[in-house]
Amino acid sequence: MNQLAKQTTSSAVSEIVRGLRGTPKQLSPALFYDQRGSRLFDQICELPEYYVTRVETAILREHAPAIARAIGDDALLVELGSGSSTKTRLVLDALASIAAYVPVDISREHLFASAAALANDYPSIDVLPLCADFLQPFTLPRAKQNPARVVFFFPGSTIGNLDATHAKKLLTRLRSLAGRGGGLVIGVDLVKDANVLRAAYNDAAAVTAEFNRNVLVHLNRDYGADFDVESFEHEAVWDAAQRRIEMRLVSQRAQTVMISGASIDFAAGEHIVTERCHKYTLAGFAAMALACGWSSEKVWTDADSQFSVHYLRTI
Ligand code: AVJ
Repeated sequence: MNQLAKQTTSSAVSEIVRGLRGTPKQLSPALFYDQRGSRLFDQICELPEYYVTRVETAILREHAPAIARAIGDDALLVELGSGSSTKTRLVLDALASIAAYVPVDISREHLFASAAALANDYPSIDVLPLCADFLQPFTLPRAKQNPARVVFFFPGSTIGNLDATHAKKLLTRLRSLAGRGGGLVIGVDLVKDANVLRAAYNDAAAVTAEFNRNVLVHLNRDYGADFDVESFEHEAVWDAAQRRIEMRLVSQRAQTVMISGASIDFAAGEHIVTERCHKYTLAGFAAMALACGWSSEKVWTDADSQFSVHYLRTI
């Protein structure tokens, strides 16, 4: 391992340990997405209770021509958290021309496999995969063709993983990366009936539970941890006041876990917060975007107002 890689790893471990020593104990949702986690997430998207992907996909399919018109010709299309790039295809199919497509994802194997599959299916598109954590500063790759504008594609309501402070930070940073005339196509999940929300994160087949616990499998394998994975139980609760689902792993007994030489004590019933999924109102999201230099140009929703897709333009 080279020096840089070693430094990155040890700073990643100290960040994880810091999170696990806080109150409440907390981990970054980015840690879900190792290879198995990315596969489990794809399975979540197929679950009957998980309306998010299905409804957003239907919106994108129905409004792809209008979304393509908003993006315009010859854009550099940059997708944040591209995963399997399934939704992207709906947009690409509707675009007359594109300067390049830049999928950005933290899961290296998944990113390159998906990018290769996409490049194979769209031989005329310049596909430039970028392995990065988009929550950290990154630079856009240079395309062969000079782009007319930069447009970010950020579906899946991944923005919901961030609290208001961090969501605003990201929107502000994207605003400056996009520059004049730039755009942002963003999927935002909406506040709705609590039972619908709870079911989406507590599926009957327990795939979400497996996805949640996989974070510990990931820490054991890649970060020198010794979690007894089976002793942690999945829990997802809706906090109506904060408008968010909180995903937790609850320790079923008192125990001490080691991670790269650091010890973490758990009381029986103590939990780790693994993810928060914030839900928005249409007006609430538009106001937040405006405060970050984005004007809401178009909003598309489904008939039941479960989910929304926004086209924001830089101001
Ligand atoms: C990818 C963050 C949008 O919050 O619904 C799904 C992740 N977590 N089930 C979401 C997730 C549990 C998902 N996002």
